[in-house]
Amino acid sequence: MVKIKQLYEGKAKKVYETDDPQYLIVSYKDDATAFNGLKKGTIAGKGVINNRMSNRLMKMLENNGVPTHYVEELSDRDTVVRRVSIVPLEVIIRNISAGSFSKRYGVEEGIVFARPTIEFSYKNDELGDPLLNDDHALALGLATEEEIAEIKRLAFRVNDVLKQFWAGCGVTLVDFKLEFGRLPDGKIILADEICPDTCRLWDSKTKEKLDKDRFRRDLGGVEDAYAEIMRRLNEAME
Ligand code: TMP
Repeated sequence: MVKIKQLYEGKAKKVYETDDPQYLIVSYKDDATAFNGLKKGTIAGKGVINNRMSNRLMKMLENNGVPTHYVEELSDRDTVVRRVSIVPLEVIIRNISAGSFSKRYGVEEGIVFARPTIEFSYKNDELGDPLLNDDHALALGLATEEEIAEIKRLAFRVNDVLKQFWAGCGVTLVDFKLEFGRLPDGKIILADEICPDTCRLWDSKTKEKLDKDRFRRDLGGVEDAYAEIMRRLNEAME
């Protein structure tokens, strides 16, 4: 499969049409942004890590009953994926308080929830991805009731699989963001990426952050954290 035409350039990836209308090629960049693009930078080698990690995790999820857009890794940065129409919802699962949850509700980071939470944001950069509930998503026509139910079911399944996998790497899965897409027949599948840009991953013992919060919060050691989390994934998958 070959790239024919660039369709879109996002903050962290470029997306290309291919010679087959059912498939796209995504190309992962080293660019990093935060706070809806206000903070910009580069994380050397991030594209290679995110491409590999996302593909490996999606393969694992497929084996555990979660349909995904992943098709084939072409190179260090390029991957073939199923072409979907993206449901404009950012789906966030949290196991532990952190980030915007802590800020919004005025609680410290690190509170372990009795059960995971799910929330949706409207995927809309102009509006700053505002939080919304199921009824708002329905009212705006972003998804149907059945689609929302399926997205929730799959998102919690992703959490069960990934939480257990990362625990085996000595890593706590704090929270993460997923995006889903529709195939032409209406089937909902997992799309976008799962990587240290889109997950909070803490060392289980030291609570050291091994994810994009190092960049967002200027903590330093960003590249080392990405390399370390990739090393642990590789080790667990050998
Ligand atoms: P939050 O606490 O800032 O809402 O982030 C929750 C999770 O979602 C965290 O793992 C980082 C991820 N995330 C994205 O992938 N993209 C985004 O634009 C934001 C704000 C968060």
